[in-house]
Amino acid sequence: MTFDSNPLNAPNPIDETDGMTTSLAKTNSPKGTWWSRHQVLVNFWLDSLLLVLFITQAWLLAVVNVVFPRGAGPDWTIWGATPLDWSEAAFATFCLFSACIVLHVMFHWNWICAVVATRLLGRKPGKDDGSHTIIGVCVLVFLIHVILVGILVARTGLVNSKTVHGRGTDALLRQETTTLNKVAVRTTSWAGEQGSVHSSRLRTIA
Ligand code: HEM
Repeated sequence: MTFDSNPLNAPNPIDETDGMTTSLAKTNSPKGTWWSRHQVLVNFWLDSLLLVLFITQAWLLAVVNVVFPRGAGPDWTIWGATPLDWSEAAFATFCLFSACIVLHVMFHWNWICAVVATRLLGRKPGKDDGSHTIIGVCVLVFLIHVILVGILVARTGLVNSKTVHGRGTDALLRQETTTLNKVAVRTTSWAGEQGSVHSSRLRTIA
């Protein structure tokens, strides 16, 4: 591409009489870097992949939430896959989709910076002096930290509804074992009592 690094100064891509976009026509020229020659096609295929991943996610989540009955366990399946399998597939698709979104935003980062600088901050359009990359890395690191903090906050609220009076699963297991032992002792002594009654009856008969 021959236009300067500020995408706001780029010509309208659809201004050619042959119906081909200006940027696509220019990127077909043998001059320029690999990226400048292939940027439009890379964006096109990435955008297409984004669309496919978005639709796939929508379908998987709809199946989990609409087709399976609420609270369905592993005994319910669609084509052999349980609700857990379906939601795991949705999560895997989401992870791939997120990575593609990060790439998508990275490829449009100059455009975003230019809009913020010129339209929001009222600055004159200028060339990127490398600050866009630094800001981009900072924004990415900040957003990753926001997600990590969100995960940690959620972990503080993690509760197992089967725990006894807020104690852990070990306490629950200990309590269950004690209860089972008590039941076993009672059953044994009851059986013993029945046995002695039976033998005393036999003695009486004899
Ligand atoms: C299903 C998801 C998405 C699809 C299919 C999609 C598709 C597209 C397409 C076709 C374009 C114009 C062509 C291009 O330059 O690549 C575009 C531009 C853009 N997209 Fe997305 N996009 C998606 C999600 C997102 C998200 C989540 C963001 C931001 C977080 C975003 C930010 C942008 C920006 C900043 C531009 C440039 C805008 C412009 O040049 O006017 N997109 N997108």
